[in-house]
Amino acid sequence: MPSVYIKTYGCQMNERDSEQVAYMFVSSGYSLARNEDEADVVLMNTCAVREKAELKALGKMGMLASRRDAPGHVVYGIMGCMAQNRREELFREIPRLDLVVGTQKYHRVFELADTLLQRRLHSAESVNKGQHLSETAEEKDAQNAIRNHLPRPAQASAFVSIMQGCGMNCSYCIVPATRGAERSRPAAEILDEVRRLAAQGVREVTLLGQIVNLYGKGEPLVGGRTAFVRLLEALNDIEGIARLRFTSPHPIGFGRDLVDAYRRLPKLCSHIHFPVQSGSDRILKLMRRPYRNEKYLRICDQLREARPDLAITTDIIVGFPGETDEDYLETKRLVERVQFDNAFIFQYSPRKDTPAAVMPGQIPPRLKAARNHDLLQTVNAIAVSKNARLVGTVQEVLVEGPSKGNAKKLSGRTPQNKTVILEGPPDLAGQIVPVRIAESTGFTLYGSPSKGR
Ligand code: 5AD
Ligand code: SF4
Repeated sequence: MPSVYIKTYGCQMNERDSEQVAYMFVSSGYSLARNEDEADVVLMNTCAVREKAELKALGKMGMLASRRDAPGHVVYGIMGCMAQNRREELFREIPRLDLVVGTQKYHRVFELADTLLQRRLHSAESVNKGQHLSETAEEKDAQNAIRNHLPRPAQASAFVSIMQGCGMNCSYCIVPATRGAERSRPAAEILDEVRRLAAQGVREVTLLGQIVNLYGKGEPLVGGRTAFVRLLEALNDIEGIARLRFTSPHPIGFGRDLVDAYRRLPKLCSHIHFPVQSGSDRILKLMRRPYRNEKYLRICDQLREARPDLAITTDIIVGFPGETDEDYLETKRLVERVQFDNAFIFQYSPRKDTPAAVMPGQIPPRLKAARNHDLLQTVNAIAVSKNARLVGTVQEVLVEGPSKGNAKKLSGRTPQNKTVILEGPPDLAGQIVPVRIAESTGFTLYGSPSKGR
């Protein structure tokens, strides 16, 4: 039985796409290799959002594809955002690479890789005779192909991709180029997929989209509710599903109906990952983000009013071209004002063919690093103190399985998306259990199942 190994970089969308690709291999008789050394097909699903992500994947694939001890028949492929971004250029960088497959062709990966592998295994064809295959064109309705899940025992949580692409034009971002125009899947197909997951025992689904609240944009409002809020309502009614999450929303199109969903829909978890990018309106404008900080803050306040225990996390870019000390301090003040439960801080990385890459006032790497470091201290201090306040409380934890750090313990998450390590039998996986929090090490909580409250 041939085997495939898939290494995934980047966001949750990529993880989900990799699962779809893996599903296609497994349902055609392949096994999943435990590591790259045992695989007949080695695939990498890549990210292009920052230069570092690209360099990491390039380095790793370059190393794998040049291993002298690997059998000659092994097929090497790069898919995803970097494949879309760099296309055939990748064959020049990694001569032994066989396949480059873009973000709208995930459904083609199996056939392309398997064809190459079979040819090599059965015709003793030697490698690298200009057999490179590349598919990076746009494809209508490719968003509907991300729909199958690998069967996994006692699976608690699953990602569901509800749309692809991005219709914004943030001046720093490569995603509209790598992921194409914004396209939504039909609601009926999403509901079917989630019902199937529920029937397998999945308790939590996370809806994925670049700007997830713009799902079904263009559909008329019904009773003042967007297509996205109506989708959440329909999902809230699916028996067996206990928790709903989505990532990532954008202030644009974030209306009262979505705020009200936090009052009305009990399965909607008390956590939102809500990227703000900058606390300076001047920088937001240069970023071509179509909102001001006042609007972002207003939405956060409304959400907390609707759901007082809501945890808010965010993405922030520091060192965007033209960012002054004062702009940076405005971002720091915003972090203090919102009291984020956590934040991902990124140093601005110039991306080819994006407007910001050629803007004046590029910030020296050392200053970017210093702002990153400084902001991280503020973010971490808030995160740590928020978690410390949870010690002594009882939290509903959806148990996901054995803890990665200690297989004798279990790991799960609270509705606020905080990780909890707990004592308990392995068959708690997939269940929601009340856990008394005994300790916080800052970012991780520790506890054991609680009988009373
Ligand atoms: N440089 C740094 N960070 C970026 N992001 C997107 N593009 C860039 C870039 N060019 C960040 C944003 C986004 C997250 C996924 O990555 O904060 O929300
Ligand atoms: Fe995900 Fe964006 Fe990276 Fe693509 S470029 S993998 S969409 S984060």
